[in-house]
Amino acid sequence: MLSDDVQMQSSKISAKQKYGEIEENPIGLPQKYCKTIVNQLNEDIASSYILFLQLRKQHAIIKGPDWKHIHDTLGEYATYIGKQAEELSERLTVLGGLPISDPARFKDLAYIDFEGNDMLELRRMLENDLHSVQKVIDAFRGRIKNASENNDYGTEHMLKGTIFEYEEMADRLEHYLAMESLERNLTTR
Ligand SMILES: [Fe+2]
Repeated sequence: MLSDDVQMQSSKISAKQKYGEIEENPIGLPQKYCKTIVNQLNEDIASSYILFLQLRKQHAIIKGPDWKHIHDTLGEYATYIGKQAEELSERLTVLGGLPISDPARFKDLAYIDFEGNDMLELRRMLENDLHSVQKVIDAFRGRIKNASENNDYGTEHMLKGTIFEYEEMADRLEHYLAMESLERNLTTR
């Protein structure tokens, strides 16, 4: 079997750096701090990919009178979040860590629950997105504080830019949920 061969080969290759190990960083930050922020950023990366997949799913399946604008907006958010996960991963390597890349582990690390494969009521899906985005904002506030207190201004700067975008997302999602024309209102009329 090809998959067994591939597995055997990869187990024979010794890793240069194992996931979870922290190497020295070129920017003079203490290892102890780097270990904490790397673990935190890996939770953010796993959560970002889950949110990315949820938004991409909704972007593809969305229906109803408001579908076009929401389809475009959710697609934009997914693209931004995918790009942001890449930025988090690259920063994490500057800090001496390895970014989470095993999809089987995303669920364990993430603080966001995937809403599942089913098509839900539009309002329900947007509420799920809003709650997820709020969780990211909350997590980022903790990371920014940790980074700032440990003189890691690069990570602080990156996350401050990102939290601003997430707060904009939360605001827009909240605006959608206040609209009269979302499914719930149409069906109850
Ligand atoms: Fe698309």
